[in-house]
Amino acid sequence: MIMERHLASVETTESWTPSSWKHKPAVQQPTYRDKPALERALAELRLLPPLVTSWEVLALKRKLADAAAGRCFLLQGGDCAESFGDCISPIIANRLKVLLQMSLVLMHGLRLPVVRVGRFAGQYAKPRSADMETRGNITLPSYRGDIVNASAFTAAAREPDPQRLIEAHSKSALTMNFVRALIDGGFADLRHPEYWDLAWVEHAPLQSEYQRMAQSIADSMHFVETLADEPARADARVGFYTSHEALLLDYEAALTRQVPQHWGWFNLSTHFPWIGMRTAQLDGAHVEYCCGIRNPIGLKLGPEVKPEQLLRLLDVLDPDNEPGRITVITRMGAAKIESELPRHLHALKAEGRRVLWCCDPMHGNGETTPNGVKTRRFENIRAELETAFDIHAACGTRLGGVHLELTGENVTECLGGARNLTEADLARAYKSTVDPRLNYEQSLEIAMLIVRKHGASIAAGPSPGHHARQPQRAMLIPV
Ligand code: PEP
Ligand code: CO
Repeated sequence: MIMERHLASVETTESWTPSSWKHKPAVQQPTYRDKPALERALAELRLLPPLVTSWEVLALKRKLADAAAGRCFLLQGGDCAESFGDCISPIIANRLKVLLQMSLVLMHGLRLPVVRVGRFAGQYAKPRSADMETRGNITLPSYRGDIVNASAFTAAAREPDPQRLIEAHSKSALTMNFVRALIDGGFADLRHPEYWDLAWVEHAPLQSEYQRMAQSIADSMHFVETLADEPARADARVGFYTSHEALLLDYEAALTRQVPQHWGWFNLSTHFPWIGMRTAQLDGAHVEYCCGIRNPIGLKLGPEVKPEQLLRLLDVLDPDNEPGRITVITRMGAAKIESELPRHLHALKAEGRRVLWCCDPMHGNGETTPNGVKTRRFENIRAELETAFDIHAACGTRLGGVHLELTGENVTECLGGARNLTEADLARAYKSTVDPRLNYEQSLEIAMLIVRKHGASIAAGPSPGHHARQPQRAMLIPV
């Protein structure tokens, strides 16, 4: 079956160019009124330097293949949407700190390296349920993320502005530059996890448990250094990769390049683009675009998709069943995961598909409070994640990663968690202009929960082909 489909997909790739998506229906794209201004901005973007390199992209692909095989665990997280205004040092550093702390908890508990992927340095475009928004008797284009327009409800703010494409590239570059500099400067050094403490965190319920793990890792590092009689060098530094939804195809195509070192085309605006749930049509422009790039691709999977549709998407996006190429990010919702996920797992397993399974317990669990506030309940997020582990264990497949919306700011956007945030708390520090994010404590709690569940699912019996737990030393080899 794969062979027949493979032949069909070869035709697709042979006619592929970075702009062949223009011959397919492209949903979720803004309408720019000033076409010459758009062309000028895209011409400028095509000349600007890339944000990542092809060898980083390929290195991440290998790590995702490792995660699929159970040799490491993927932690992907960040804002629902970055905003230009949030491209400031404390927000970038705090987000990095939370992800570092979570990864430390995961390394310690899972005894596995963790591959860290931020939803940042380019997560500026948002899909919307309607093209237009009406308030009272005024109708304006919907806000589509800072790369397109501004969120204020005025005609000027909502007009798609091509110059924002250039600004998104600059802000992504500034974010990347700061993240890389922090990491190179020792900020992410495992011997000094105290650098990652968040200034505002006081008396956090999980802090002391976290501090104990951090100290134990730092002690292990010092111990190994003492034995080796030399510093742990690069091993002590952790790496970071970037990801964003490949939504605004003009932007993605302008950053799609060929490089002297490797064959083929790379999206060099990010290491790891993903296809959102609303744009995963088999004959659509987004799938066509992603077919031709060599980056690893994330594919969101919601409850409406049938296993046969998923298989056909994989035939087109990954005709060679290449390790690390596809990460299926399931986002079923706590209420539907039990009925929807197993058949996908069985279908892909039956076809020998080697995808990395990742759980996004955020996007299927949105709700609106009686006061009209968009929120998510921690208990639903937790339930979806725990159920995902159970379902994978029962199907003999492996959950190799998690995809979260979180921030290092002290926000109150999701209900529940260790401090049991209530609807009244939401008013206190709700900052997201799009989806509600986990705050620091809730994020750390999720990391601890993953450790508990992952351990339990291994204890329940390894799935076929499962690798034995890594030796203790594995936690000292960050990726
Ligand atoms: C998102 O990740 O912010 C998003 C919109 O997700 P999905 O495509 O799964 O709805
Ligand atoms: Co979101």
